[in-house]
Amino acid sequence: MCGIFGYLNYLVKRDRRFIADILINGLHRLEYRGYDSSGIAFDGDEYLGQSDDPSSKAKRACILVRQKGKVEELEHATKSLENINWDAEFTVHVGIAHTRWATHGEPSAVNSHPQRSDEQNQFVCVHNGIITNYKDIKQYLTNKGYKFESETDTEVVVKLVKYLYDKHKNEKITFQKLIEMACSQLEGAFALLFKSTHFPGELCATRRGSPMVIGVKCADQLAANHIPVMFSKDLFNHQNTKDSRNDVHLSETTSSNLRGVFSPPLMITDPTTSELSVTGNDRSIEYYFASDASAIIEHTNQVIFMEDDDLAVVNNGALTIHRTQHGEVSGQSVIREIHELKIELQQIMKGNYKYFMQKEIYEQPESVVNTMRGRVNFNTRKVVLGGIKDYISEIRRCRRLILIACGTSYHSAVATRQLLEELTELPVMVELASDFLDRNTPVFRDDVCIFISQSGETADTILALRYCKQRGALIVGFTNTVGSSISRESHCGVHINAGPEIGVASTKAYTSQFLALVLFGLVLSEDSISKEPRRRAIIDGLQQLPDLIKKVLQCDKKIREYAEALYKESSLLVMGRGFNFATCLEGALKVKELTYMHSEGILAGELKHGPLAMVDDNMPIVMIIMDDPVKTKCMNAYSQVQARGGQPVLICNDDDEELIKLANRNITVPRTVDCLQGILCVVPMQLLSFHIAVLRGYDVDCPRNLAKSVTVA
Ligand code: F6R
Repeated sequence: MCGIFGYLNYLVKRDRRFIADILINGLHRLEYRGYDSSGIAFDGDEYLGQSDDPSSKAKRACILVRQKGKVEELEHATKSLENINWDAEFTVHVGIAHTRWATHGEPSAVNSHPQRSDEQNQFVCVHNGIITNYKDIKQYLTNKGYKFESETDTEVVVKLVKYLYDKHKNEKITFQKLIEMACSQLEGAFALLFKSTHFPGELCATRRGSPMVIGVKCADQLAANHIPVMFSKDLFNHQNTKDSRNDVHLSETTSSNLRGVFSPPLMITDPTTSELSVTGNDRSIEYYFASDASAIIEHTNQVIFMEDDDLAVVNNGALTIHRTQHGEVSGQSVIREIHELKIELQQIMKGNYKYFMQKEIYEQPESVVNTMRGRVNFNTRKVVLGGIKDYISEIRRCRRLILIACGTSYHSAVATRQLLEELTELPVMVELASDFLDRNTPVFRDDVCIFISQSGETADTILALRYCKQRGALIVGFTNTVGSSISRESHCGVHINAGPEIGVASTKAYTSQFLALVLFGLVLSEDSISKEPRRRAIIDGLQQLPDLIKKVLQCDKKIREYAEALYKESSLLVMGRGFNFATCLEGALKVKELTYMHSEGILAGELKHGPLAMVDDNMPIVMIIMDDPVKTKCMNAYSQVQARGGQPVLICNDDDEELIKLANRNITVPRTVDCLQGILCVVPMQLLSFHIAVLRGYDVDCPRNLAKSVTVA
């Protein structure tokens, strides 16, 4: 939901071409977060005031390039700029960039970011989030004579900064103070980056509710006398958000958690000013600011995750992080860590695939191994989840497990609910985060609330997390994104380790979430003797899983043939029940979001209560019937559909001769334990929706109107 990127070089000579390339490349990496328009801001040649000033921090004009459409359109527009000296070198320079998923105002150049304070671009800013009180601020500024050119909420922010600058400029106000003052007036969610012609070489970044990561790259990373700010064994649980249990669970990081040899840039925390500062040993340094680490990893793996109400300022090459509360330095001590990211560049590239989604579908034999790696011992049949091991007994004693998520992540909760009920014998609720909040659902101290999110940044899920945390529940996060808001605000949790997921439609994250929740059930039931045979069967099934997924992927050609038969249709129903009801929901969601066809996941047991009315000999249907305890009931549904002229494509087990004979249109998957079967059955649905979308000529990685990380509620 919008991607922001910033780059600052200090005492590192870079030419303008290099800077523009870095900004545009950063946007390409973030494009999955929004792709209806984009823009960049960088310094021009014209000096402001001191026309012959050769110093690196000279005030220069700021150039804005903004373009409707995808980042490649922006790239083209930038390259076509006239009268630009691309070879001009800068030893200090700030550039900011944005790729947009429109919330206020249609996609257009003028509504794209960076938004500007005035025609001279004195202040420019990029924003991810929504400013909810923008109308009030706009009215205030309009009354002061300000004219607005865009329909965005962001323009009020940058104009407010300009207004405050004009008001306080005789007091020699700093950039930091200015941004603090402006942000104290804002309501809503934001991650913001600011650049100004009045403060050359300085960059301000702040966040409240939307993510921001800072990458740090020093020429000399090995500072002899460095002071590392904080180390940790696990990235869950470092944030002191409002929490009625924080006496028990927070502030767990101690020196005993040291991660080993670590060589960050020089870092200093000054307890008197509550500031964290980072600077290079030889003073030359580059900073990268981004909505997520995928835009940073090719430059550096040393990152700092900003927290809500942080204001990061880079001035004279030094990064300082201040705590702000409504414009004031709060005095709260700042503890930040530099994390060493483990992501490899090739993980965020397409490789030999044409689409990220296709690559991610094909990565599943590997991603499920990564979810299990170091956690499942297939010899002893023991499962260990390090991120929750200190909380197991508390979880076992809970009143109920509440699984809360959105979209595909919610489907992973639906998929594993039955198994969690069976293994834990606890009541298990599954909840859509938005609906859970709408209902003001009662939550108690002895509830365990599990938040599942690929991005770890979904606004509805985070709001639900905070709601439950305030009520004293134990918060367990399941995320794919290390350092994300959900991983930091949870008391404990599990990283699903699926690797970066770039395709907007979730695929490998779903199978890894599903799997991680199965592991969770196995861990919770390890003391139960009566469950032992079941646990053994599941763990044996897990060992086979990667090979079985590979086998399913071999059906790709056949699935493409079905796609060819279906791609001109306007509707597709997906039916099933039991462990595969979630597969129907997830399959239908994939079809909807990628192909824009109408699609519904239908619980076969509900068929005769309404959906059967839609069935006739024209209605395309996929039915999932596994050889499991609900097979007979599914067969009844199949007969009812056939009796109305329906000719479903069947997804069934490859050794189920009865079904294979019954339906001449079938896709077969290998047999596994009933509760894991959904991991195999979803793969044909992922492939089917992928092929239909390609045949319909749609951009699979960037479905219309969607964005990967939904950071607005
Ligand atoms: C669908 C899809 C979305 C996400 C949902 C939650 O393919 O990706 O439905 O699952 O927006 O996102 P996360 O998991 O990041 O919280």
